[in-house]
Amino acid sequence: MRGRQFLQIPGPANVPERVFRAMGQPLVNHRGPEFARLLADCVSGLKSVFQTTGDILLFPSSGSGGLEAAIVNVLSPGDRVLAAVQGVFSERFVQIAAKHGAAVERVEFDWGRGVDPAQMVDRLRRDEGSSYKMVFMSHNETSTGVLNDVKSVGLGKARLRHPAVFVVDAVSSLALADLQTDAWHVDVAVTGSQKGLMLPPGMAILAVSPRAWEAATKATMPRWYWDWRQLKTAMDAGRAPVTPVTSLMFGLKEALDMIAEEGLPNVFERHRRLARAVRAGVRGMGLSVLPEEAAASPSVTAVIQPDGVDQKTMNNVLRQKYGVVIGGGLQKLEGKIFRIGHMGQIGAPEVLAILGAIEMTLSELGGPVKLGEGLKAAELSLLEE
Ligand SMILES: Cc1ncc(COP(=O)(O)O)c(C=O)c1O
Repeated sequence: MRGRQFLQIPGPANVPERVFRAMGQPLVNHRGPEFARLLADCVSGLKSVFQTTGDILLFPSSGSGGLEAAIVNVLSPGDRVLAAVQGVFSERFVQIAAKHGAAVERVEFDWGRGVDPAQMVDRLRRDEGSSYKMVFMSHNETSTGVLNDVKSVGLGKARLRHPAVFVVDAVSSLALADLQTDAWHVDVAVTGSQKGLMLPPGMAILAVSPRAWEAATKATMPRWYWDWRQLKTAMDAGRAPVTPVTSLMFGLKEALDMIAEEGLPNVFERHRRLARAVRAGVRGMGLSVLPEEAAASPSVTAVIQPDGVDQKTMNNVLRQKYGVVIGGGLQKLEGKIFRIGHMGQIGAPEVLAILGAIEMTLSELGGPVKLGEGLKAAELSLLEE
């Protein structure tokens, strides 16, 4: 045994011991007073993390279910949606919306580039009859390691007084990068439990604005499991409409306490600094980061696969020899990039261990690295403010 496993895929993230211990509590009756208290604590902590006074909705589901919930509650078949597409997960949103009969208009950006907010706002400006019912973008496109400027799109849309519901995929950004749901006029922010919230997978969480609620009263897409109204009625009464993920919620309360103890701005700053060190480290090894520096994500780093080193072999050696598990490229980026997840419970020692293992693996596989150069670059970056 080589020591602990470093699960550095771009989610699920490592689950802290504290969270696992909290999840090990005996179950409570989900129709009883203990559950109502647990739910209230989770909702209140989540409002802080989403930076919203709007409603919080919790579904037993992976993140994709939360995206589907946004679609079927806001839209009617044939409704027009303006969507920024720039990778696997923004593409997934478009697919879900199209399957439900929405008329999606794609604004395409190269994979590895950030969404250009000006282009999105310009499309809204030219939408004279305000025919778009929804605007969608990812905050963090996990498949390419790109963080997008949600603020500029949200503020630009608000200045135009465009009435579309603004939906943001925050699956790999919540509690990792600043997302000011209310201040940036985000109407629906969607996340999953398994990334910034440091829990196992199994919960989709949405923050829903009054504008989105209004749309939900008019939307005609069929829904039962995903119906916000049924969920809110139950949650307002301290209950759940279906059997809830109580153990995950014990863990969520603990994770929210951990985030509050560190302070949300400190959580963002830690991820920013560590991500910068990861990029410095891989560049120090002579490798290139896929996105440009200004669009680089604080939660996942996508690195161009070095010539002559097979991606799968590299990941296998890393896992078997060093216990470091990283992600590969998805779909058209398969074999072309590797992705390092650095989200949740992670600090400088872990970053150095991960980079050291990558450096050794590349060296062993004949990659263009000189041992120690990546580590040194990361150390210098970590020493900076
Ligand atoms: C940005 C983004 N959106 C959506 C999803 C889908 O989430 P899930 O796999 O939990 O359904 C992911 C998963 O990694 C993601 O990173």
